[in-house]
Amino acid sequence: KIVNVVLSGGVGSRLWPLSRKSRPKQYLPIFDGETLFQKTVARNRSIADEVLVVGNKDNYELSRKDMAASKLSQYRELVEACPRNTAAAIAFSAFHCHEEDVLFVTPSDHLITPGTAYQTAVKRAIQLANEGNIVTFGLKPSHPETGYGYIEAVGEDVKDFHEKPEQEKADNFFKQGGYLWNSGMFCFQAGVFLAELRRYETEIFDQAYGAYMLKKEIFLPETESLRIPSLSVDYAVMERSKKIKVVAADFEWSDMGSFEAIYDYLGKKGHHLDDSGNMVIGTNTHIEFTGLTNTLLIFTKDAVLALKKENSQEVKDVFQRLENER
Ligand code: GDD
Ligand code: MG
Repeated sequence: KIVNVVLSGGVGSRLWPLSRKSRPKQYLPIFDGETLFQKTVARNRSIADEVLVVGNKDNYELSRKDMAASKLSQYRELVEACPRNTAAAIAFSAFHCHEEDVLFVTPSDHLITPGTAYQTAVKRAIQLANEGNIVTFGLKPSHPETGYGYIEAVGEDVKDFHEKPEQEKADNFFKQGGYLWNSGMFCFQAGVFLAELRRYETEIFDQAYGAYMLKKEIFLPETESLRIPSLSVDYAVMERSKKIKVVAADFEWSDMGSFEAIYDYLGKKGHHLDDSGNMVIGTNTHIEFTGLTNTLLIFTKDAVLALKKENSQEVKDVFQRLENER
């Protein structure tokens, strides 16, 4: 059985103030009236036998609404009491499935053009997963981004995986060639993933299992969850496992993860952006820039953010500071 695990517990802190804790970016109906969450489910409909949503208690009403809008009659869900990052979220989903099930893990907040290239890549990934591999999807880098994982690949073989490198390293990877961006989607058998997690991050495995066993229906317990080390699957498993493979992802992809990613996306879609790299989102007020380059202005009802495009990754620090002040 093929299970589409939809990860939906993130808050999208790098897109503050568009994305809020009460309405993370995957639930914003700003893409042809649909949300990224709905698009994700729709894209994988013909691929997966089942959908398993792993979300957070703060937003599971929103995912329920989106699932209803997606008209998917059957799906399962797991609701986290607190986000413990993707290693734990994926472990929960794997505990919840049969060990031979193939999990196709997808973030809920990516914009991907569905089509033949996408279908072909996922089909190949499922094949490799059935042979016992942990499969990643590799994209051709367009710039030395520091917010992504880098996969050193020879064909489908993975020589190395570097999660979120420092700028200097990213520059080198980009110049050198032979590196692909990790798309953030994964494909593997539940049992294979759990064995690797147990091997490299025993503490995460044990604590996640303990929490999972104490869940009430679909709700994971808070106290036990807080004991799980918070680490992303990229650091926990992808950087260490020897079972990683990569499938070329020749489809259009944007993770909509930062304002820089949105800028690039809008540029590609032919939106008029000025020649100095400036961009305004969220207002019809006429705005002019003088002497500013690569400056982004983000308007919402109750907050405005101004930033340099190259500092897009740092917006999460603003979000964090505001959270701490609350
Ligand atoms: N259920 C749950 N619980 N979901 C979570 C949690 C959690 O604690 N934390 C994050 N997620 C979800 C997010 O909502 C998102 O859909 C997905 O998991 C990935 O998390 P991000 O926080 O967006 O990861 P990232 O963008 O920094 O990095 C990953 O994606 C990049 C591509 O977009 C990595 O896999 C990188 O290597 C990759 O390049
Ligand atoms: Mg992301």
